[in-house]
Amino acid sequence: MNSSAIAVTGLRKAYGDKAVLDGIDFEVAEGSVFALLGPNGAGKTTTVNILATLMKADAGSVRVAGHDVATATRQVRSAIGVTGQFAAVDELLSGRENLRLMADLRRVRPAASVVDGLLERFDLTESADRQASTYSGGMRRKLDLAMTLVGSPRIIFLDEPTTGLDPRSRRTMWDIVRGLVAEGTTIFLTTQYLEEADQLADRIAVLDQGRLVAEGTAEELKRQIPGTHVRLRFAGPDELDAAARLLPGAVRDDQELTLRVPSDGESRSLRALLDLLDEHLLGSREFSVHTPDLDDVFLALTGRVSTEVTAK
Ligand SMILES: Nc1ncnc2c1ncn2[C@@H]1O[C@H](COP(=O)(O)OP(=O)(O)OP(=O)(O)O)[C@@H](O)[C@H]1O
Ligand SMILES: [Mg+2]
Repeated sequence: MNSSAIAVTGLRKAYGDKAVLDGIDFEVAEGSVFALLGPNGAGKTTTVNILATLMKADAGSVRVAGHDVATATRQVRSAIGVTGQFAAVDELLSGRENLRLMADLRRVRPAASVVDGLLERFDLTESADRQASTYSGGMRRKLDLAMTLVGSPRIIFLDEPTTGLDPRSRRTMWDIVRGLVAEGTTIFLTTQYLEEADQLADRIAVLDQGRLVAEGTAEELKRQIPGTHVRLRFAGPDELDAAARLLPGAVRDDQELTLRVPSDGESRSLRALLDLLDEHLLGSREFSVHTPDLDDVFLALTGRVSTEVTAK
């Protein structure tokens, strides 16, 4: 298919006799965000490395930007940018020097204005001339991503771009990704966070023990995961009784005086639920929304918790 930025079929990779990728297939449409979700050791970085021509596959076909990664390495490299799991920033250089180096390597002209533009965009202008070793983790991550953007690659690989970032930096990173997508860039990202995939991705694939156990939009994936619900706690058994009669789909816990009400967790349905309780003069003492996390996805998709959790 011509409109695919990335097309992977039958991809296999083993380290020694340990199969890490056991035949995976997926396609990423141009201008979209694709998230590869999986626990530690699932094979996410291995996949990125193969797609980004940094590692050879054992079998299968991988086309990136219309070129075969095995035979057209140079063409693929000129179309992509990669932000690895571990920052590629040179600690001894300043932010500006790191970017300048990248601009010179990629022969981007005029280098100085491209560098200034990126520093501005990533809010790094003020610290541009400080050695990168003095940057915080979040700043380093931003600089790393800025370096990836030198030369405006059409396809960008981000390997766990927000692991270790605080919530604010995570949001900044999400905004940057959204900005890139708005410009038509294709993004392939890996993450351990369902929420991140949910926020950013057009399509999500879940990798488990070398295979894709699910692929689809966030909505499609969530439909496979029972679990989003509202938890209401009441002041006494009478309120609980009355509320349970009002909400026949709910599961009650008499000991805890709680009701678990299945919900999509969206503000409209939450408001409707609260309005209904209000109408019947039933105030709940506690109200919380529970959404499934990655472990719930794994539990639902594979019938067991993720390997990492089992190992603990
Ligand atoms: N060079 C290597 N030699 C041998 N085994 C390796 C090598 N690189 C990775 N592995 C193994 O392959 C599996 C997948 O590793 P990979 O780094 O792709 O996982 P990941 O999904 O990126 O994990 P994480 O979330 O921890 O980054 C792991 O079991 C890892 O130990
Ligand atoms: Mg990894």
